[in-house]
Amino acid sequence: MNKNAPIAIFDSGMGGLSVFREIEKLMPHENLIYFGDTARVPYGTRSAETIEKFVKSDLDFLAQFEPKHIVVACGTASSVGNKVLKKECEHFTSVITPSAIAATKATKNGKIGVISTVATLKSGAFVRKIKKMMPQAQVYTQATQLFVNLVENGFDENSEVAEVVAKAYLKDLKKAEVDTLILGCTHFPLLSKVIGRQMGEGVTLISSGYETALATKMDLEALGLLNESDAPGTKRFFVSDDLHTFCEMGAIFLKHPLNKKEVELAQIN
Ligand code: DGL
Repeated sequence: MNKNAPIAIFDSGMGGLSVFREIEKLMPHENLIYFGDTARVPYGTRSAETIEKFVKSDLDFLAQFEPKHIVVACGTASSVGNKVLKKECEHFTSVITPSAIAATKATKNGKIGVISTVATLKSGAFVRKIKKMMPQAQVYTQATQLFVNLVENGFDENSEVAEVVAKAYLKDLKKAEVDTLILGCTHFPLLSKVIGRQMGEGVTLISSGYETALATKMDLEALGLLNESDAPGTKRFFVSDDLHTFCEMGAIFLKHPLNKKEVELAQIN
């Protein structure tokens, strides 16, 4: 396998950029391809069959770049699409295991909360993974699907609507006294301040972005596939719809401007 080949990172939309940003920081010499399936976002409200079909076509699109590694920067694709990923990818890093490991390390009272999309919750992937690592853990789950819409529509963590929605969604997790909360969808780190305010100071938030980037680096190291070049890595972004919104919102995710010329329209089947 060619060490200069790109790492391909994908999500249903913009959320995966929260993983991309951490990978870019941690591995500045890697060539990166990002694909956001903005024509079909959200994935989290769909059936498992539909999500599996989407994941297969996302992988087919990315195959043309001959990536050395796939990063599934989407909680929904990682959990519901796991079978397809295992069948189609030689190796990949998803957001489930890294987040579960971090949460089991962080918790002191053994009460872990998970917020995610509806489809991720239904898959049970986070609960299974946490219980496997820490059988005595008490895991509390809550689907917070509206968070995805808030983020995709530009409502940030200081907006009034985000505060109201977070309060309603998080009250049961607060009552359960979880001391650790997994942000099980890659869109959620953009709302981490409002989520943190609602949960209270003593609760550790686990963001899949950093944890997944670190796991990706470790996976590449173990495979002997880290890029040894000193040059800054190249970056290409693809979306299946609406370049304009992606550039605008993408800049917020990446915390640096995203030039329209860097983003291309993807043809997916
Ligand atoms: N970013 C996706 C995830 O991590 C969710 C958004 C969606 O519903 O498509 O689950």
